[in-house]
Amino acid sequence: MNASPLQPAQTQDAPANTLYGGVTNRRVTVRDLAKAKRNGERWAMLTAYDALTAGVFDEAGIPVLLVGDSAGNCHLGYETTVPVTMDQMVMMSAAVVRGTQRALIVADLPFGSYQESPAQAMHNAARLMKEAGVHAVKLEGGERSARTIELLVEAGIPVMAHIGLTPQSVHAYGGYPVQGRGDEAAHQLLRDAKAVQQAGAFSVVLEAVPAELAAEVTAHSAIPTVGIGGGPGTDAQVLVWTDFAGMTAGRVPKFVKQYADLRRTLAQAASEFASDVREGAFPGPEHSFQ
Ligand code: KIV
Repeated sequence: MNASPLQPAQTQDAPANTLYGGVTNRRVTVRDLAKAKRNGERWAMLTAYDALTAGVFDEAGIPVLLVGDSAGNCHLGYETTVPVTMDQMVMMSAAVVRGTQRALIVADLPFGSYQESPAQAMHNAARLMKEAGVHAVKLEGGERSARTIELLVEAGIPVMAHIGLTPQSVHAYGGYPVQGRGDEAAHQLLRDAKAVQQAGAFSVVLEAVPAELAAEVTAHSAIPTVGIGGGPGTDAQVLVWTDFAGMTAGRVPKFVKQYADLRRTLAQAASEFASDVREGAFPGPEHSFQ
């Protein structure tokens, strides 16, 4: 018998007592992720911006969902992540928490919500925890954000760091260039990874860095590394859901694997519906009340 597409991943192929098999009656926690690192267990993270989609990924057994500020360009129609506001993050994060039962929910602190001062970061991280109910926050920057991470962690807020390519700096970069190429840049990435770990981050995203360097950071890191465009050597992998499901229009980054073609499927369904309505084929008697 074929498994339902919404069957949790753990029932299909993962051994018991793993992130995918052992934790079904409570939320995944940062302690579970630390244990996975010790056990060498790899895990997957997806972004989610609403309750419906988050619920599908939760049922599929994805242990960590990120309410990314990638919502800016992947969900809200902006060109970049820069315009995303705290109110938007709180609204989307609360929906993702409501739509899930099992996944650990991490929410991004958007551009301008934490760089001003550690006090500003504390205020906005607390909003995400209290108003939306998320379990952890993510912010960009290595050495430059270490003091802020430290303060949030001291206050009991689990922090996922994000180094390598940090999309909130798109205008400073002039695009989305691969980071960590060349000796100096590679050493900076290693220093950033060390700084966020020392500051108390429970995990670190490595975005758009050479695979060998991401593997080296992972080997030296006591906390799980989550790669996006970092090759196969990280502890976990994250993809933006609209990219991995084939919803994104046009070109997707080199590091994306598309696991479905939802944009085409939805467009076909919409045009079939429109043509049924035009031709009077919908609704039929089976869709009508007598
Ligand atoms: O906002 C986001 O989706 C992210 C991922 C790319 C890691 O930060």
